Amino acid sequence: MSAYDKLQTELKAAPKTWLVTGVAGFIGSSLLEALLRLDQRVVGFDNYSTGKKKNLDEVEVALSPAQWKRFRMVEGDLGDLESCRRVCAGVDFVLHQAALGSVPRSMTDPLACHESNVTGFLNILVAARDCRVKRFVYASSSAVYGDDAALPKVEEKVGKPLSPYAASKVVNEVYASAFACAYGFSSVGLRYFNVFGPRQDPEGAYAAVIPAWIAALLKRETVFINGDGSTSRDFCFVNDVVQANLLAAAAANPEAVNRVYNIALGERTTLNELFEFLKSALRQRDASVPDQQPVHRDFRAGDIQHSLADISKARTLLGYAPAFRIQKGLELAMDWYRKNVA
Ligand SMILES: NC(=O)c1ccc[n+]([C@@H]2O[C@H](COP(=O)([O-])OP(=O)(O)OC[C@H]3O[C@@H](n4cnc5c(N)ncnc54)[C@H](O)[C@@H]3O)[C@@H](O)[C@H]2O)c1
Repeated sequence: MSAYDKLQTELKAAPKTWLVTGVAGFIGSSLLEALLRLDQRVVGFDNYSTGKKKNLDEVEVALSPAQWKRFRMVEGDLGDLESCRRVCAGVDFVLHQAALGSVPRSMTDPLACHESNVTGFLNILVAARDCRVKRFVYASSSAVYGDDAALPKVEEKVGKPLSPYAASKVVNEVYASAFACAYGFSSVGLRYFNVFGPRQDPEGAYAAVIPAWIAALLKRETVFINGDGSTSRDFCFVNDVVQANLLAAAAANPEAVNRVYNIALGERTTLNELFEFLKSALRQRDASVPDQQPVHRDFRAGDIQHSLADISKARTLLGYAPAFRIQKGLELAMDWYRKNVA
């Protein structure tokens, strides 16, 4: 039995109360669905800035009424400390996902990024500490590796942050570490690499590459690849991110706590390969999707060229075992994409 299977059995037998911030977003709503399926009690917090009520509606439809009744939604902003305190009260575990997650948006509006990702982070951290939650798990990012070119990425070796977004995630890690030293408050940071799956926003200028390209392919529009397509990413299916969060919240080994972990698949896919995977998965379902070629354009400022995670620390200390290679994740998400994008 895997560590994750064992944990799920334990949680079902003895439900806990969880706060999921950013619950109306892509990853937050996936955490919500997984926790409610395990009969947990969940408080959700979101200001709907990039998150959507529709994401919560989708989770409701997927669950039984009894499971959905264990969810309480609070609309509010991380900038308001009192709201943060209210949602942390009585909670066992915090899974902090709320943030402005777009690198390009942080380049054009660094102050908004700082408000949500740094001031907001500090507010929820203080509230969680004051409410004595058992564990604070938070979303960091592979962006913290910045200009360090070494591959694979190992947690101890980071470069200079290349964007305000990356800087905000570095600051999160610094604060979490300072709270461990100053107050003995225990946290775990998860550096997600490129996450994909159902409910990832396919719209707007800041859409992530997978839903944006699927939308373009379905609409018969040109797919643009920034650079020559040799750029690579370690794509991680959202269910594996859920696994990492739950394992981090429950980790009992003191060695495993007050650390940051790479959370990814541990395999690299180039953008050219990704394009071919997406096109063939779509054409298998709908032969009328054109066999188009992508158009290459300039590399985007602030982006990193290659990304590949060493996930051995999460494997060893958390028992993390990613279960979804990219094609399997795409298979599972494709029906959602076809219904919801384009
Ligand atoms: N998706 C990825 O590939 C990826 C990679 C690395 C890190 N992350 C991190 O994971 C987390 C979740 O990302 P996501 O992809 O689900 O993004 P998302 O935009 O879908 O979700 C973020 C949620 O946070 C909410 N939010 C933002 N600012 C808020 C504030 N001030 N107060 C209350 N709610 C607020 C938004 O409305 C949204 O629902 C973020 O912290 C992001 O930086 C994501």
